[in-house]
Amino acid sequence: MGKKVLLIGQGGREHALAWKIAQSPELETLYAAPGNPGMAELCECISIEVNDLDKLLQFALAEKIDLTVVGPEVPLMEGIVDRFYENGLTIFGPTASAARLEGSKVFTKNLFKKYSIPTAKYDIFSDMELAREHIKTYTDLEKPVVIKADGLAAGKGVVVAADYLEASQAIDSIMKDKEFGAAGDQVVIEECLFGQEVSFFAISDGKSFVPLVSAQDHKQVFDNDEGPNTGGMGAYCNPPIYTPELHQLVLDTIIAPVIEAMAAEGTPYRGVLYAGLMITEDGPKVLEFNARFGDPETQAIMPLIKSDILPLLEAAAQGRLENYQVEIDTGTCICVVLASGGYPGSYEKDKEIQGIDKVDPDTLIFHAGTVKRAGAYYTSGGRVLAVVSRGENIKKAIDKVYKEVRKINFDNMHYRTDIGSKALI
Ligand code: AMP
Ligand code: GLY
Repeated sequence: MGKKVLLIGQGGREHALAWKIAQSPELETLYAAPGNPGMAELCECISIEVNDLDKLLQFALAEKIDLTVVGPEVPLMEGIVDRFYENGLTIFGPTASAARLEGSKVFTKNLFKKYSIPTAKYDIFSDMELAREHIKTYTDLEKPVVIKADGLAAGKGVVVAADYLEASQAIDSIMKDKEFGAAGDQVVIEECLFGQEVSFFAISDGKSFVPLVSAQDHKQVFDNDEGPNTGGMGAYCNPPIYTPELHQLVLDTIIAPVIEAMAAEGTPYRGVLYAGLMITEDGPKVLEFNARFGDPETQAIMPLIKSDILPLLEAAAQGRLENYQVEIDTGTCICVVLASGGYPGSYEKDKEIQGIDKVDPDTLIFHAGTVKRAGAYYTSGGRVLAVVSRGENIKKAIDKVYKEVRKINFDNMHYRTDIGSKALI
């Protein structure tokens, strides 16, 4: 009998996961909670919010769901995996204590130190005055310094400060004004690393892991990495800087040791390991770990995974990844995010989207912030759509994706025109 899968989330990342899971010959029914209009073409969408753990659990029990896949971080931190395990359900993702790898920078930095995993030098403070004193040791030497709130801060808890004033303001807003609440009870103050940033994704079952793909995100809203940070304006896979030698180094010095360390600490890590890396002159160092798939990286990664993803996620959830092989496409894939006017600040909504039907069928459109009314799509979020094209090389993928992007339009739509261009230099 086929499998019933519940996918939790409603963004472009989850649409990409749904697209991939829906291709599985093992699938009977794919449910999405709550899903989005793009996902509705592949899934049965049920109106339960991602943080309503009680209702999600009730639904999974009532429908005898074989596998639940969690997209966003919030339900993970709130212990959805723990709750599902306690009720005998199979769920892909880390327990709440393992999800501290994303949820607590203090926990993670201390883990790195204890197990000699390469990362920026750091100190931890719960006292604001001591934190302020400490930043002088950096700024006296005219070096930038990085201030990080300990907990989740919707991607806004990290400040790379150029001078004492900026660093001190960051400490004030995190520790005094409590901009991120209890997430700012402690701060990590660390040295600034220089180099190119690359993300690497692997899937772990707590003991073994399967490497997936590397990708480069584009966080700033404008071309040439200018303007404020966003959730991510585009991504492409297999950046040339991530050479086979570097890949081996990342597996040997970061991914495998982190999985061993988490197991040794009594919190084995099952789920996606999303390593945010800085490729420095001294080799790869970890900036952060996330406990979930990246958005928009997932939209570019899923089309490169040739193997069926359903048995992979199930094997990870059940601790059966030893010797598991996954086939990955050798080409590349690129994702360009189309955003609403005003994003990442307050943005416009309810603009009719035109041209989706004109896009070439071999380019994928993943929905992130849309609603459907009377057969037409309208904008409802900051990041609206992701346009995704494969190519045998990055140049071809870039040319293809922008040709398709230009067919889509809505009022004040904006996007970066340089996704992937670092790979061409
Ligand atoms: P994080 O949430 O820790 O990954 O930080 C968010 C972003 O801040 C990263 O993607 C980097 O661009 C930047 N960042 C974080 N830590 C450092 C560091 N030690 N040196 C330079 N940039 C950093
Ligand atoms: N693309 C950044 C993230 O998913 O956190």
